[in-house]
Amino acid sequence: MHTLNVALTGVTGYIGSHIAIALAEHGHWVVGFDNFANSSPAVLDRVATICDTSMPFAELDLADTDAIASFLVTNKVDAVIHLAGLKSVAESVAEPLRYYETNVAGSVSLLKAMEQANVHGIVFSSSATVYDPNQTSPLGEDAVIGPINPYGHTKIMVEQIINNAAAASSLKGINLRYFNPVGAHPSALIGEDPVGTPNNLMPYVMQVAVGMRDEVSIYGDDYATPDGTGVRDYIHVCDLADGHVAAVNALAKISTSDTINLGTGVGSSVREVIAAAERAADRDIPHRVVKRRPGDADMSYADPSRAEHRLGWKAQRTLADACVDHWRWQDQNPHGYTTS
Ligand code: UFG
Repeated sequence: MHTLNVALTGVTGYIGSHIAIALAEHGHWVVGFDNFANSSPAVLDRVATICDTSMPFAELDLADTDAIASFLVTNKVDAVIHLAGLKSVAESVAEPLRYYETNVAGSVSLLKAMEQANVHGIVFSSSATVYDPNQTSPLGEDAVIGPINPYGHTKIMVEQIINNAAAASSLKGINLRYFNPVGAHPSALIGEDPVGTPNNLMPYVMQVAVGMRDEVSIYGDDYATPDGTGVRDYIHVCDLADGHVAAVNALAKISTSDTINLGTGVGSSVREVIAAAERAADRDIPHRVVKRRPGDADMSYADPSRAEHRLGWKAQRTLADACVDHWRWQDQNPHGYTTS
């Protein structure tokens, strides 16, 4: 296999750190940058421990086009995996301009830097949230697009920008639409470390399990699903990371751009997630049904077949595996990367 020099934007985030390790394990050379807007520099030491080597890193902001271009040139980068961005749905509703500036203008700045540096491959971190929530799963890539919040709009806009830029230049792009990433590296050295109260189900469940919070609120049990609670496609972050390695390897084969779901194809309910976490942590996890959260769909899970055909990638790990790994991380690092 041809090894590449790959730059990761947002390398110290939950997903970026796992991708850095997966790339290194596959023989690629990894460099990265981050502005630490939602991550800790401590991640770099943890990744170095796992990989047995430290990676070239710079503290850089997406807005700084020239600095990014020189970082790409200096490190002889062949392809970029673009993960840096803001990711809270609620925050995007309250502060839409900040979201469009960081996610959309930031991505344009990155693409301009890549053009300056003659880097012609990009893999972009998109989201299943670009799909109209009012349609039946499994969701293939041709499902109806219709995000219902600014965050989702930023993701589809950047996909479109990459598609247009690829059509007009020698750029090749792959937009990866993630379903719900969960789990942690089996070493328990890296994992998800949300700032403040977690918005997402799995980190909340794990913080209840470790005793940091009292109980999980189940947002409604009257959905049109088998047990009435919301159904999602939870993908182990290490599977997600392997999907990025497959996408980087596929860049050389595609003509302009492509869009691919990264999911398992399996839907799990909120009650099933809590039960799987209880087994992993070997304890009861208190929970209570409360009213629905606005904007939540009944059910969202992937048709992952395109990823298998075009990338030769398929999720290997189950929800139970993800809960075991997520729990090991939470149990050994109750306060994430900070010590108290
Ligand atoms: N849920 C609860 N209680 C909680 C949190 C969540 O019952 O405390 C439920 C939700 O109602 C939903 C499920 O758990 O049914 C999953 O909710 P998450 O917030 O974990 O995930 P979402 O599917 O709502 O959204 C996530 C990310 C988005 C991303 C989207 C892609 O938060 O950024 O997946 O589908 F865009």
